[in-house]
Amino acid sequence: MVTTRQVRLAQRPTGLPDADTWSVTTDELPAPGDGWFVVAVDHISLDPAMRGWLDDVPSYLPPVQLGAVMRAQGTGTVTDSRHPDFPVGAAVTGTFGVTEYALSDGTGVRRIDTDVAGAATWLGALGMTGLTAYHGLYEVGALSAGDTVVISAAAGAVGSVAGQIARAAGATVIGIAGGPEKCAWLRELGFDHAIDYKNENVLRRLRELAPGGIDIYFDNVGGEILDAALANLRRGARVVLCGAIASYNDQAPPPGPRRYMSLLVNRARMQGFLVFDYPEKDAAALEALAGLAADGRLIARETVVDGAVDDFGPTLLRLFRGENTGKLVLRIA
Ligand SMILES: NC(=O)c1ccc[n+]([C@@H]2O[C@H](COP(=O)([O-])OP(=O)(O)OC[C@H]3O[C@@H](n4cnc5c(N)ncnc54)[C@H](OP(=O)(O)O)[C@@H]3O)[C@@H](O)[C@H]2O)c1
Repeated sequence: MVTTRQVRLAQRPTGLPDADTWSVTTDELPAPGDGWFVVAVDHISLDPAMRGWLDDVPSYLPPVQLGAVMRAQGTGTVTDSRHPDFPVGAAVTGTFGVTEYALSDGTGVRRIDTDVAGAATWLGALGMTGLTAYHGLYEVGALSAGDTVVISAAAGAVGSVAGQIARAAGATVIGIAGGPEKCAWLRELGFDHAIDYKNENVLRRLRELAPGGIDIYFDNVGGEILDAALANLRRGARVVLCGAIASYNDQAPPPGPRRYMSLLVNRARMQGFLVFDYPEKDAAALEALAGLAADGRLIARETVVDGAVDDFGPTLLRLFRGENTGKLVLRIA
């Protein structure tokens, strides 16, 4: 028997989540039965998608139920086990929830090697984040050398990995991010250009930096930045719909993309995808990402917040204020 603090959904938020959204309980986990094991969670992933899981609307995953432990990916160490593949001491990653300890039967859990990369990186560039960037670019964007690729939220988790993958593939890469520090970091990573959307006219800058037009727009943001990209497509362009963080806390649906007729004019397509859509290609993608990291072409960065599970709610808000560079992770003391 082990005691664990857990963050639960207390109330569905309107707009940004706040303190009333969450409750923290102290619960006892039963000892693991046959085929089960206990994980002491050490890192919890913060994801913009979490905001969507709080709404009681049909989506690609069921909404988190009121009173349930908040869904979250994490890493941790097995502390008690009756499962042959997950012995005590194994480092693992999986969807353990916002909790100190989790009971698991191994479904969706992978072992990780923390000598190869730190736990936070297994949640970021070498985990779901990296897979999202990789599959989005190759499966949806049909990335190839010579493409001009534009990426929004480019200094975030998915965006920073996507830009480096595209660069390594021989594309010209333009990142869009908020503020001069983030843009300077993108240039350090090897992005050809960076646009500070908080201080520059994105539509005009795209026209200057990509006079021949954009081949791939990897959209993490939606809204006005999507419109600016649509206004600058090249014939045959691919708009990769990865996310739309600019509207996740809106109380009404966002206005439609005003420039969508550019898809017709340029015989372009816009396609959404989920990171889970290509399971048969995950292993090869993770190998490719590890290869890029090993030869220095993929720099994995994380913003690690030290705290307790109780800090989950305020930490999540950092994503919506742009207070992260690279992958945002909560490290449990
Ligand atoms: N399709 C999938 O399977 C999948 C999987 C994972 C993630 N995603 C999506 O990918 C996107 C990025 O996720 P992530 O985990 O990598 O998060 P992230 O980019 O690390 O963090 C979010 C970033 O978004 C930017 N941002 C926040 N509000 C904004 C606004 N109103 N307008 C413009 N930019 C804003 C902020 O950067 P600035 O400082 O630059 O504003 C912030 O740092 C999200 O849309 C997420 O939902 C999709």
